[in-house]
Amino acid sequence: MNEAQLYSDHLRTVCARTDAALAACGFESLAIHSGRAALQFLDDQPYPFKVNPHFKAWVPLTDAPDCWITYRPGARPRLIFVQPQDFWHKPPALPSGDWTAHFEIEVIEQPDQAKPLLAGLPRCAFVGEWRAQFETWGFAEPNPQALLEHLHWPRAAKTPYELACMRQATAKGVRGHLAARDAFQAGASEFEIHLAYLRASGHTDEELPYPNIVALGANAAVLHYQHREQAAPAARTSFLIDAGAQHAGYACDITRTYAATSGEFGALIEAMEQVQQALCAQVRSGVDYARIHLDAHLRIAQVLSEAGIVSLTPADTVDTGLSQVFFPHGVGHLLGLQVHDVSGFAIAPDGTRKPPPEGHPWLRLTRTLEPGFVVTIEPGLYFIAPLLEQARAKHGRHIDWQCVERLRPYGGIRIEDNVVCTDGEPENLTRAAFAAAAE
Ligand code: GLY
Ligand code: MN
Repeated sequence: MNEAQLYSDHLRTVCARTDAALAACGFESLAIHSGRAALQFLDDQPYPFKVNPHFKAWVPLTDAPDCWITYRPGARPRLIFVQPQDFWHKPPALPSGDWTAHFEIEVIEQPDQAKPLLAGLPRCAFVGEWRAQFETWGFAEPNPQALLEHLHWPRAAKTPYELACMRQATAKGVRGHLAARDAFQAGASEFEIHLAYLRASGHTDEELPYPNIVALGANAAVLHYQHREQAAPAARTSFLIDAGAQHAGYACDITRTYAATSGEFGALIEAMEQVQQALCAQVRSGVDYARIHLDAHLRIAQVLSEAGIVSLTPADTVDTGLSQVFFPHGVGHLLGLQVHDVSGFAIAPDGTRKPPPEGHPWLRLTRTLEPGFVVTIEPGLYFIAPLLEQARAKHGRHIDWQCVERLRPYGGIRIEDNVVCTDGEPENLTRAAFAAAAE
């Protein structure tokens, strides 16, 4: 199916989901604001613009501040597009592409000109970042919680168009990852590796779906490491890169870990690779995602035990909480328009929550998997100084501290793929894109 047909089917699904959500919550129409480029405090410089995810669910526009989608069930959706007369900045180009045929498009020059175009929408729910000026625009309610829950719930299952966008995002991300790996092997600094990633993926920093994590050596122990050291370290030990890309607003989220030389840490990466692939194979319709997370703990505990890092059995390593010292985050999350996509805890369209298992507060997804869900699978094993210190009193005698000291300079390991749940075998978007790049 070509992209135009995929999009047309996607839009039909978005309309049907919206019809159901509006009906369930007692609204007759919807107005989605794309957002505004906010200015920094006491300054005339804007923060990077990040479009409202509800807006980009309808249209493939990510750089469109002050625009609107309006929708009434049964009617054609409308796009109100702001194209300012501006000689300081380059005005955005008018929307183009096959998708525009599905919309009634109004072009205005000033954001306030949207007000009369929005007047008269019956019992209209507003979705977006609320601004005081909208008080007089006639909306029935801003961001009704019940409506948001009903709109978020079905987003877990991607349409074929969304999967196609995510495959394209993945291809860009993989190009970046391969360039980053080569830069690491050539002795580059974190900063240089980051630049190599941007160049190869074709993204500016602001276009990335989340800030790249580019960590050499011990920096890999910082889960969301945010710096880019300009000098290459004296000794190259390891490299962890967690970096994504996007296509039409849909993200990929990929992590790889490399050792500079084979040896103890390289063997740990190999063991974690086996763990990660076994977990990816569990992405099946009907599976409780929280069980994959709990199984990840058991498998990582086995790696810790076989490597001699801990002396307890795998079951006891999990039961006593020792595995949390080395793997202190969730095994993954929903992925799509947002990197940590919405509705990970919902067990019904009204947003009724299923919390993460006791003792696992960082798990972001507790839903039962269904065909179309895209999840990340990202087990990790780290040597995190503050967590190891905290653990000393309770678990100290079960940890081989000499081993920990040897491995600390390597920081840690995370391997992350993006996996589609289907009716049968899972589709691993990430592995497929790495394989295609190697052909
Ligand atoms: N890639 C960043 C995260 O999943 O938190
Ligand atoms: Mn992730």
